[in-house]
Amino acid sequence: LFRNADEGATMEWRRGEFRISDEARDLDIDFVHGELAATYWAEQIPRVVVERSIQNSLNFGIYSAKRQVGFARVVTDHATFAYLADVVVAQPWQAQGLSKWLMEVISAHPRLQGLRRWVLVTADAHGLYEKYGFKPLLKPQSYMEKADPDIYRRAARKF
Ligand SMILES: CC(C)(COP(=O)(O)OP(=O)(O)OC[C@H]1O[C@@H](n2cnc3c(N)ncnc32)[C@H](O)[C@@H]1OP(=O)(O)O)[C@@H](O)C(=O)NCCC(=O)NCCS
Repeated sequence: LFRNADEGATMEWRRGEFRISDEARDLDIDFVHGELAATYWAEQIPRVVVERSIQNSLNFGIYSAKRQVGFARVVTDHATFAYLADVVVAQPWQAQGLSKWLMEVISAHPRLQGLRRWVLVTADAHGLYEKYGFKPLLKPQSYMEKADPDIYRRAARKF
């Protein structure tokens, strides 16, 4: 079900006990859904929406042995643009450099090179992303968005 969109070779990176993989089939969807449903930005996200987002993203899992401990995904055309989303490291594995390693891996990924623009949205982790070249919007007046932050909290909404 969770095949990589390009069906091409997947990649993995190792550091000590940890492994990062861009193989969608390795992902523990219960882990990803559990972590995202507990965040401030995707509170109550339905599992089926997480599944659909994974099916259409370049996904990164962080694993300790077989156990998934972190996640991020990139929504991209692999040519001009990428949107970094849903970056999480589970609480017991935080503060040991895993998100920084994940950002190094994502930044250097061969299918994410030469892009004209990367974007992300964060409430408080600006300092993490600044290390990898992200900056506040140079021209915020040029940006527009169409946002529905409460979409998952509205019980009537059908997915
Ligand atoms: C934010 C998060 C991904 C960081 O992961 P981590 O593996 O614990 O972080 P690392 O150990 O790799 O260190 C992160 C670096 O970014 C910095 N940083 C900046 N803002 C931060 C923030 N809000 N939270 C954690 N680190 C932050 C840290 O100081 C650290 O830099 P340093 O080593 O120079 O001190 C993780 O705490 C998490 O999943 N939090 C809950 C979900 C979340 O907020 N995700 C980010 C959404 S944009």
